[in-house]
Amino acid sequence: MSNYHVKTLEEYFQVYRKSVRNPELFWEEIAEEHFVWRKKWDTVLDYDFEKTEFKWFEGAKLNITENCIDRHLHIRGDKTAILFEPNNPKEEAQHISYKELHKRVCKFANVLKDHGIKKGDRVCIYLPMIPELAISVLACARIGAVHSVVFAGFSSTALATRINDCEAKMVITSDGSYRGAKTIDLKSIVDEALEDCPSIENVLVAKRINSDIQLKEGRDKWLAPLLEEAYQDCVPEIMDAEDPLFILYTSGSTGSPKGMLHTTAGYMVYTAYTFKNVFNYKENDVYWCTADIGWITGHSYIVYGPLANGATTVMFEGVPSYPDFGRFWEIVEKHNINQFYTAPTAIRALAKENLEFVDSHNLSSVKVLGTVGEPINEEAWHWYNDNVGKKKSPIVDTWWQTETGGIMISPLPYITPTKPTYATLPLPGIQIALMDENGKEVKGNQVDGRLCIKYPWPSMARTIWGNHQRYKETYFSAFDDMYFTGDGALRDEVGYYRITGRVDDVIIVSGHNLGTAPIEDAINEHPAVAESAIVGFPHEVKGNALYGYVILKETGEVRNQDNLRKEINQIITEHIGPIAKLDKIQFTEGVPKTRSGKIMRRILRKIAHNELDNLGDVSTLLNPEVVQNIIDNRL
Ligand code: WTA
Repeated sequence: MSNYHVKTLEEYFQVYRKSVRNPELFWEEIAEEHFVWRKKWDTVLDYDFEKTEFKWFEGAKLNITENCIDRHLHIRGDKTAILFEPNNPKEEAQHISYKELHKRVCKFANVLKDHGIKKGDRVCIYLPMIPELAISVLACARIGAVHSVVFAGFSSTALATRINDCEAKMVITSDGSYRGAKTIDLKSIVDEALEDCPSIENVLVAKRINSDIQLKEGRDKWLAPLLEEAYQDCVPEIMDAEDPLFILYTSGSTGSPKGMLHTTAGYMVYTAYTFKNVFNYKENDVYWCTADIGWITGHSYIVYGPLANGATTVMFEGVPSYPDFGRFWEIVEKHNINQFYTAPTAIRALAKENLEFVDSHNLSSVKVLGTVGEPINEEAWHWYNDNVGKKKSPIVDTWWQTETGGIMISPLPYITPTKPTYATLPLPGIQIALMDENGKEVKGNQVDGRLCIKYPWPSMARTIWGNHQRYKETYFSAFDDMYFTGDGALRDEVGYYRITGRVDDVIIVSGHNLGTAPIEDAINEHPAVAESAIVGFPHEVKGNALYGYVILKETGEVRNQDNLRKEINQIITEHIGPIAKLDKIQFTEGVPKTRSGKIMRRILRKIAHNELDNLGDVSTLLNPEVVQNIIDNRL
């Protein structure tokens, strides 16, 4: 019998030991018992750290949508699969049953086929959080097309870069979106992006805001009439275990965004298993993850993980502050949410508001609270625990990444004793190592180091689309025979892990990963800018905010500083999106550099953090004189 649902701490330790002693047997038993396969695998795992090749369940044949939809039809056909809560609370929520979901996914899949989409083709999805987003993701998976969802807050330039990188054939979008009191014209962002995207043949447009937009002849089509006419059944494409399922872009410390490629069987098994255990999901629970499907959290824990377990998963279109700061809690009460999963930045923003927004709602349905995306500070943890969980719902602080595909370190609710700011223990199957700078593993407890994983797990990203070398260099070259996460962590006296943050140049702002390089590149496009350097600094709500040091081409006094700041943020918005805007921009004559010309971000970071007493030895810099000047003029 497999250990699909761990029920006690003792069982956790026992299962964990088994998963380390015999990982293949451990995953094989879970895969056997809890999924439908068209053909079983020949080997559970085949891997080579040297070549960075990882294959799970090779030889197996399946379709993930059969596991997420079809197999539930006869037992829970009328159960709500997706519960859609619109931006406007006055608009009615939609309950999409498994039967209805099956029909809508099949119809959508047929529309894709009618437009020439075949197995292996890439489809870019640029949609707000409306049911069509989840449905189009599943429709791609139904026919073996590779979806690449781009978060609908990204700019046209960012969208174009992602479309071109994976050479998508189609974009699925909407006429617009609602976000709180705002209406956003998504279609014109797509139009702008597509001026430069030769691979796109068709654009399918969902109607959301009923705006009067122009469709481009021969390229764009309204989705609704096509769906109306499409046949309501679609035979699933039978996929190999390692066939690509999706590409999702994430920022690196340097260079262009990385298209992380996830494949079918391992991803399915791992997200389903972790969903069940981390949220302690029971048959009639209503589960809500507030993330956007444009991020990995939405892929794994709004769509695939919950649906593979036959769960009811909520999709929320709006924002936590609209129509007021009580919206999350109003929804929890309205739909009797049992598991609530959100980001620390949202918790911090809500914690600043009047407690009445929380207290005026009945939150007694809540059984499990979750957080993800960045370290949660102690104050936010306690606020969440006291006011939302009423000290009776365990908080699962889940650590993972776009690259890991699923949750890696997390308490199991009602099982693992929680500790504020600690993600606690690795899930079964996950073998952690902390490494020092010399490449040696740091053993024992009460130690810290670079967080690595030393054995493959089923949902790991298999490559960076179109650039396997970069995959190898980024994740597998820092330490031999292990995956390097880019995070630092400490292990306390009982073996609990606390994630201390990125050790590279990635900055997490409101839970979104931002690489410094693409932002600097965008700033440098401004005609007046010669050079720039970005660092993070602590921010009450966002966790981190961005501080930019900007060197102008013309030296001397900077006139119109505020205008220039606005223009710089405008360029960033155009190139990346509003999430990457700088909170502070300091104009300076120079930034500290090593003799080889590398910007010393460590020093800039300390200045931005106001930690001026231990800047370290600056005398070896190429230009030590700039440091004092930067300190004197800091914002
Ligand atoms: C950070 C999000 C501390 C971490 C699923 C990681 C966290 C990056 C936590 C991945 C957590 C995520 N505690 N830090 N519970 N969860 N992170 O790819 O730095 O958007 O490397 O995936 O977020 O972000 P990504």
